[in-house]
Amino acid sequence: MNRRKFIQNTSKAGSLLILPSGISQISNSTNPNFTKTDFGKDFKWGVATASYQIEGAWDEDGKGPSIWDTFTQNTNRIKDGSTGNVACDFYHSYKSDIQLVKDLNFDVFRFSISWSRIFPEGTGQVNQKGLDFYHRVIDHCLEIGVEPWPTIYHWDLPQALEDRGGWVNRDIISWFEDYSSEVTRAFGDKTKKWMVMNEAASFCGAGYLGGFHAPGKRGFKKFYDAAHHANMCQSGGARVIRNEVQDAIVGTTISCSWIDPIDQKEKNILAAKKLDAFLNRLYLDPIVGRGYPTDAGKFFEKIAERVPDSDYEKLKFDFDFMGVQNYSRTVAKKAFYIPVVKAFQVPPKKRGVPEDQITEMGWEVAPDGFYKILKQLGEYKEIKRMIVTENGCAFPDKVEGNSVHDPRRVQFFKDYLGNMLKAKNEGVKIDGYFVWTLLDNFEWAEGYEPRFGLVHVDFNTQKRIIKDSGLFFKELLEE
Ligand code: BGC
Repeated sequence: MNRRKFIQNTSKAGSLLILPSGISQISNSTNPNFTKTDFGKDFKWGVATASYQIEGAWDEDGKGPSIWDTFTQNTNRIKDGSTGNVACDFYHSYKSDIQLVKDLNFDVFRFSISWSRIFPEGTGQVNQKGLDFYHRVIDHCLEIGVEPWPTIYHWDLPQALEDRGGWVNRDIISWFEDYSSEVTRAFGDKTKKWMVMNEAASFCGAGYLGGFHAPGKRGFKKFYDAAHHANMCQSGGARVIRNEVQDAIVGTTISCSWIDPIDQKEKNILAAKKLDAFLNRLYLDPIVGRGYPTDAGKFFEKIAERVPDSDYEKLKFDFDFMGVQNYSRTVAKKAFYIPVVKAFQVPPKKRGVPEDQITEMGWEVAPDGFYKILKQLGEYKEIKRMIVTENGCAFPDKVEGNSVHDPRRVQFFKDYLGNMLKAKNEGVKIDGYFVWTLLDNFEWAEGYEPRFGLVHVDFNTQKRIIKDSGLFFKELLEE
């Protein structure tokens, strides 16, 4: 049976759990030069996840299809031909998986809500069973003393809405508002910490410009509109949370990367500025009230030209925190053949970065870039507080008995945490750090090959094994 078939046919076995007590000590690990106390007693430690990447149960209990169901099942654009039909089967194993969050001594479980579980058609009729599932997740978190932090949207748009134009259709602003109202009214009494959206940059760029993520669309016009509508929804959704949830703490999440020019030539310095606008500022500046980054060139002027004046006030929101997500750094070079932006990211291999400093995603391990981007964001006086809502890495793992020794991942976390602490000690207001991610899972167009989890998942049996990196956090966070 090929891998794709096997994954689709895997039964919904409850997860087999290997508890930490059954696991050997972390190999190859030296003590980091910080302790939990250095981050402060109110600092939040968490793990982040996303509905499509872990839940499975893609058509269960009345859920409608999302663009990722369509993209994985009807195209051949996933590297290993897999789908998220079963994924980690979190839909059924949520109790034991959330227990893992607790066992590893984290405070917070960040998860996202699948829009098409709540509204199978995107709008209109609510699916009570979908709401019930997230009630169960939240209740279980509260029961065992883990804080549930929902994200309203992490890329799995209902297919019914994509059929009406998806993020390109301006009506999405009101569709998103209705959906946000429904979930905040349902869960707002139980949970106060909310994030509106996960990385608009990724789903707009990869889904509507590059076409390698769902819904697989390409084209600048589509992209301009999708990006602006996503920004309108970041602030629109935030307003809904503020109105519906008493004492809410409201955030959204942005992907960000420190950008270096490949050399000090003027054209490459300009390329770095353009990529900074494209990757970092496009989704942040408008929502904190700075407007679009038109100082970075024509491309951004074009987006701004399409925006009705009356949108600017609505774009702005006074977020309680900004969720910052970082994995690597970017090195920019001018490229006349790249339409519009005229700049590209030089891959680490081409720059001579040693193999052991490149993750399975092809990303450079760049803890210093993490420090620098935190400092860069620290310059925004509009950002009140920051929480690192994602940071992590994928390396090939090997199961040895009931252990997974992953020294490169452990080292990654030590180095990134050390750099975050340095930024924090220098005055950047960072209130928390969430690891991407709890479980190995469906890594979008890359399928199941890259493994980001602190917990290894065997996708044939659904057995979980806590990796050394998971044990590293368990020890670090021990009271
Ligand atoms: C996304 C995750 C993804 C991770 C690693 C983040 O940008 O939010 O969904 O799995 O990157 O690629």
